[in-house]
Amino acid sequence: MSTVGILGTGRMGVRLALLFADIGHQVILGSRDKERAAQIIRELGQETMQPGNYQEAANAEFVLPAMFLRDGALDTLEPFRSQFDGKIYIDITNPFNDDYTDFILPWDNSGAEQIQHRFPKTRVVGAFKNVWWEVFDAPRFGDTVSDVFVVSDDATAKAEFFKLVEGSPFRYIDAGKLSNARTVERMTLLSGELGQRYGYFPRMNYKLLGELWSVGKADRVATAIAASH
Ligand SMILES: NC(=O)c1ccc[n+]([C@@H]2O[C@H](COP(=O)([O-])OP(=O)(O)OC[C@H]3O[C@@H](n4cnc5c(N)ncnc54)[C@H](OP(=O)(O)O)[C@@H]3O)[C@@H](O)[C@H]2O)c1
Repeated sequence: MSTVGILGTGRMGVRLALLFADIGHQVILGSRDKERAAQIIRELGQETMQPGNYQEAANAEFVLPAMFLRDGALDTLEPFRSQFDGKIYIDITNPFNDDYTDFILPWDNSGAEQIQHRFPKTRVVGAFKNVWWEVFDAPRFGDTVSDVFVVSDDATAKAEFFKLVEGSPFRYIDAGKLSNARTVERMTLLSGELGQRYGYFPRMNYKLLGELWSVGKADRVATAIAASH
């Protein structure tokens, strides 16, 4: 069992608190208003969760701020810099603008990189960025388990994260380096648009399809192409 500190009691924060509590971790649900966190915990009947302020949540072994960059997350989190040092910071940000039509960051940057830059001593692992809030309430799509794309420049932190989420109802995909968050975050922008178009919003997610492949499978076609030259 690990302790997970969630900072923010919005759509994502509360659902991620439930996800971690359901797989046996000690969750501190942190809010700017501790009584709000306490009330949510009471309403959910989750007595094992602890309510806290941000300071108390930031004491946990793993920290997960669940707030928007556009709302000033970086400055809000500044007072907890020394508590974050050396810890795994689970970054879920997508740098949406106010009306969700675009991002406030350019293509060659990402929320994850902004956070790692601002808090260089934390071990940032980007995750859950591609999962819309509603999906946590019923993570399966029929029999299909959907994917969470995970990025980090710290291989050990990524491995610790994969261990932390064991037993949760998603498949976790190693999506590579932290700067791949540029792509993963924009996948969310795209799924939001597609979800609206096809009437799924906000119940849609990604699933990487694939099967192990060897060059032998393409021999017939490759041979035919080669023979034509
Ligand atoms: N919504 C999604 O489907 C989704 C999916 C993937 C990733 N994300 C990311 O997850 C993060 C949180 O998204 P969300 O949808 O959970 O947001 P939300 O429902 O708006 O909740 C954000 C929480 O942040 C806290 N907060 C701290 N400073 C704030 C401020 N100045 N103004 C407003 N709230 C402030 C509040 O909690 P307290 O009042 O308790 O402190 C608030 O409940 C964002 O970075 C978003 O990009 C969201």
